[in-house]
Amino acid sequence: MLQLTKFYEECYQDFEQSNLLSNVPAEILSKNFLAFIDQKKSMMSKKNLGHYIDQLIWTQKSEHIDDPSFDIELKKEIVYGLHLKNKIFGTYCISIKILRPIIEHINLIENRPARILEIGSGSGQLSMAMYEQLQHTSLKVEMTGSDIVPEYVEAANLLAREKKYDMNYKVIDALHLDQLPPNSYDIVFTLHSMHHFLPEQLIKIMAGARSVASQGFIGVDAYRGLFNLFFMAMLGGGKSLVSLNPVFYHDSVISGRRMYSAKQLEIMARVGCPGSTIIAENLKPGLTVVKIFS
Ligand SMILES: C[S@@+](CC[C@H](N)C(=O)[O-])C[C@H]1O[C@@H](n2cnc3c(N)ncnc32)[C@H](O)[C@@H]1O
Repeated sequence: MLQLTKFYEECYQDFEQSNLLSNVPAEILSKNFLAFIDQKKSMMSKKNLGHYIDQLIWTQKSEHIDDPSFDIELKKEIVYGLHLKNKIFGTYCISIKILRPIIEHINLIENRPARILEIGSGSGQLSMAMYEQLQHTSLKVEMTGSDIVPEYVEAANLLAREKKYDMNYKVIDALHLDQLPPNSYDIVFTLHSMHHFLPEQLIKIMAGARSVASQGFIGVDAYRGLFNLFFMAMLGGGKSLVSLNPVFYHDSVISGRRMYSAKQLEIMARVGCPGSTIIAENLKPGLTVVKIFS
């Protein structure tokens, strides 16, 4: 326990030096965490405490991968780091499990492959994992990956061709889905990308997805909370358990601060897609999903 506490404190020093946790009081990620919370609890209601912590977590800082002038090779390392994280935590399997009933439904009712558009596909590995897993089943799916960064799209197409996978990746700006032909897909899916967008942008994406996809939109992202924030920072680098890469570390911490809660996603979905069936919930391990059915 003592070692763990020391380890946490070292991590916190890393955060402080990189200024990634500006505004977050040191106690929050230290052994004094519970005492700090107890003190705040005595000063405010449970609801206000939640609100207070929420305000501390939020940052306006943006991630390197959202910076058009940031070195593309480093960006590719970041999306590759995300792929590793997805593999380690089984996020691809979870995504496939979420999509499976819709694929079954389309296959059965419409007697054709389900057409899935992945937006913000980064390394493109989720679409490939889905293709790999489903090609040995009776389920039929047409996978299209997409991203706004042409270099990721090119690399993913290259890899898919090397693997001889019958799928492709396109450059698509998720903010302009409404410019694609209506109903050209069944589901628009996205993994770990929703926090990259401001609420008004995410509302636009949800509304656009409803016009381009016959069934609707499903988005999966990390859970919003202190635990996830700290966990991402630990995973990302510095003197942490898995010392990967400082740029990945930077983006992990920022993303941990910018995640949306299930409630926030539900509200955005209600604004963007009035009249749709909306489910927003937390999933283990540390994920949140929003499903919007037309
Ligand atoms: C955190 S990465 C997620 C990558 C991948 N889904 C994964 O889980 O490994 C977010 C992705 O969203 C993409 N992105 C950002 N803005 C976008 C936009 N307007 N349209 C499409 N993709 C966008 C980024 O280029 C990046 O690849």
